[in-house]
Amino acid sequence: MNFILMHKKIPIVDLEIDSETGHILKIGTPINIDHLPLGTFTNNDIDRVALREWWKSRCIPQNRDGIDILEKINIHSPQSLSCKYYGLSLSDHYWICPKDQAINWNDINFFANPFSYDVSDLLFNSEYKEGSRKFNFCSPDCTTSGQLRKKWKIINGDRYLLKKGSLSFKLEIFNEVIATSICSRLDIGHSMYTLSQENGVFYCMTKNFLSPTTELVTATSIFNQYKLPDNISRYEHYIACGEMLGIKNMRWQVEQMLILDFIMANSDRNFDNFGLIRNAETLEWVGVSPVFDCGSSLFFNKSNYSINLAISNADSKPFRSKHREQIKLVRNIDVVNLNSLSSIGDEYSELLSQDQDLTHERRSLLCKGLTRRIQILKKYAQATKF
Ligand SMILES: Nc1ncnc2c1ncn2[C@@H]1O[C@H](COP(=O)(O)OP(=O)(O)OP(=O)(O)O)[C@@H](O)[C@H]1O
Ligand SMILES: [Mg+2]
Repeated sequence: MNFILMHKKIPIVDLEIDSETGHILKIGTPINIDHLPLGTFTNNDIDRVALREWWKSRCIPQNRDGIDILEKINIHSPQSLSCKYYGLSLSDHYWICPKDQAINWNDINFFANPFSYDVSDLLFNSEYKEGSRKFNFCSPDCTTSGQLRKKWKIINGDRYLLKKGSLSFKLEIFNEVIATSICSRLDIGHSMYTLSQENGVFYCMTKNFLSPTTELVTATSIFNQYKLPDNISRYEHYIACGEMLGIKNMRWQVEQMLILDFIMANSDRNFDNFGLIRNAETLEWVGVSPVFDCGSSLFFNKSNYSINLAISNADSKPFRSKHREQIKLVRNIDVVNLNSLSSIGDEYSELLSQDQDLTHERRSLLCKGLTRRIQILKKYAQATKF
């Protein structure tokens, strides 16, 4: 089927997409190169591989928990789901307009218009009522990435992202909530997560940090656009890109994220889990995105007996593979007031106590893990002080 890739009201490029698979078959000549997704126009030409990758990254990944239920509605690939309602998202302002239809952005975008909860019921709650009324695909859930079950919900006019923990570990959502508290105490810009429960199942909830004019551009896209020169590390290059784009306090904001990730022993800060925000109309850069997706941390996937080892040998992403190495990239560690975290272990314990399935032993190991990480960081900060 033939579409035009749109950025809000601006036509960007013709696309032929296979509706069965959701794959981009053909990419036309760009109509507007400035508004192409960042990283898909390099060396004076459209990068067709990068555009296809970008399109895929905006779809539900194949490893999403519970994705098989899409078969019930005859969707055989998550990518084809994103074509079911114009490819609209709540994280950016791109969409696909069928060539033969005159559709107005103002009438369809999810920032301003209500949406159906059919896809949410299916993917978040595994609820499907066979043979009932026609399934309504009008939902930003069709394009929301990430492995964990999630859905968007409108509450008092605001858009919130609700996320469940993984079936095997469950702790991810509690970790989002404790990350919120750590960020508040350390004054780190973050997406604020709260804990809720529905039918005995916990989930966390966070407000959309984007708006009808702003969109998220991931670090992946930044690296696709601004190729890594030979003589500079990926870390310094990312900071240099932000500074070149006019982002204020770029280095300090990236450092704050690394400090948080050290404390939480975050093992999944991949290049899609942070980025920059830009104005989708003017293409001006607004700032660094608030910190989000801190769930894969605090030994969530470690067995009780391996937590101790992991505390002192935590794996990291994306700039170094161990946190003890990654933290060395931070120049301003002494600026952080780690004393503000003095009661965080108790707060984490209280939070985790809500999960009846978590044994007392595991809870205390996890809380000890958090307080130990802070102690290790304090010691490191002391040792590097001049
Ligand atoms: N508060 C928010 N506002 C707008 N977009 C958001 C928000 N939180 C997350 N997103 C978007 O949704 C995507 C998925 O969210 P998130 O990374 O939290 O999910 P996840 O399942 O934990 O991901 P992963 O597979 O990386 O563990 C993000 O990559 C981002 O594009
Ligand atoms: Mg993520």
